[in-house]
Amino acid sequence: MLSTITCRALAIAFVGLTLTSSVQGSNHPISNDIVCPTNSRVSFVHNSYTYNAPLRNFTDITGSFFNISWYADTAVTSTTGTDNVPGATRSGPFAGGVFNETLTAIEKRSDALLISYHGKGFTFTPGPSYPALRFDGYSETMRFESICGGKATYIDVLTYTCSDNQRLTYTAWSTVHSSSFDGLAQTLGATILAGDCPQEAHCDKH
Ligand SMILES: *[C@@H]1O[C@H](CO)[C@@H](O)[C@H](O)[C@H]1NC(C)=O
Ligand SMILES: *[C@@H]1O[C@H](CO)[C@@H](O)[C@H](O)[C@H]1NC(C)=O
Ligand SMILES: *[C@@H]1O[C@H](CO)[C@@H](O)[C@H](O)[C@H]1NC(C)=O
Repeated sequence: MLSTITCRALAIAFVGLTLTSSVQGSNHPISNDIVCPTNSRVSFVHNSYTYNAPLRNFTDITGSFFNISWYADTAVTSTTGTDNVPGATRSGPFAGGVFNETLTAIEKRSDALLISYHGKGFTFTPGPSYPALRFDGYSETMRFESICGGKATYIDVLTYTCSDNQRLTYTAWSTVHSSSFDGLAQTLGATILAGDCPQEAHCDKH
């Protein structure tokens, strides 16, 4: 167990890190603004996941804008531009529709990966018991962050979507996010991190 002083030092180091990253963040603003047509409204879905595996295990698989073999049970069949350079586009089939997404920002650091993109409008069918769903455009930002001294990874996904069916939009994105990230973790043999970091980084609470 770590002494109170060590814990305090860690807490101060953490505050330092937080300030540093918010300063960096303000240098790289990401616009998630989407403009919805008439009869379509913007809604958002935010999901987060934490797994017991180093960041690198995830980003080795998720670090290419042109390769989403791990995401949404689909594949990229057509691209324009250069992989991981903003302005690049990727396109492919999804549940009876065709998605087309443009990379708007990417930031790769040793402790984090951030990818943001805008998607064009398209119509698809979420499942046999669901009606067709129209997205009138969307934007999505994924962050993968190294936590617990490199032993674990925090992932969060924030998606804004224009649609006339908020409820089904929420269900569709949440299902895609959870099945993709849990599937990826399973592939890696990584378990869900439910609470505290693994013992080494645990502070004495007294
Ligand atoms: C896409 O990524 C997967 C997982 O890392 C890899 O097995 C596959 O070879 C990659 N596909 C291409 C075309 O690079
Ligand atoms: C996707 O959109 C880009 C940019 O508008 C376009 O150049 C590309 O042809 C589109 N891809 C498909 C498959 O429609
Ligand atoms: C992560 O990757 C390292 C290096 O390739 C490997 O040794 C380790 O088993 C992987 N861990 C998990 C949980 O996938």
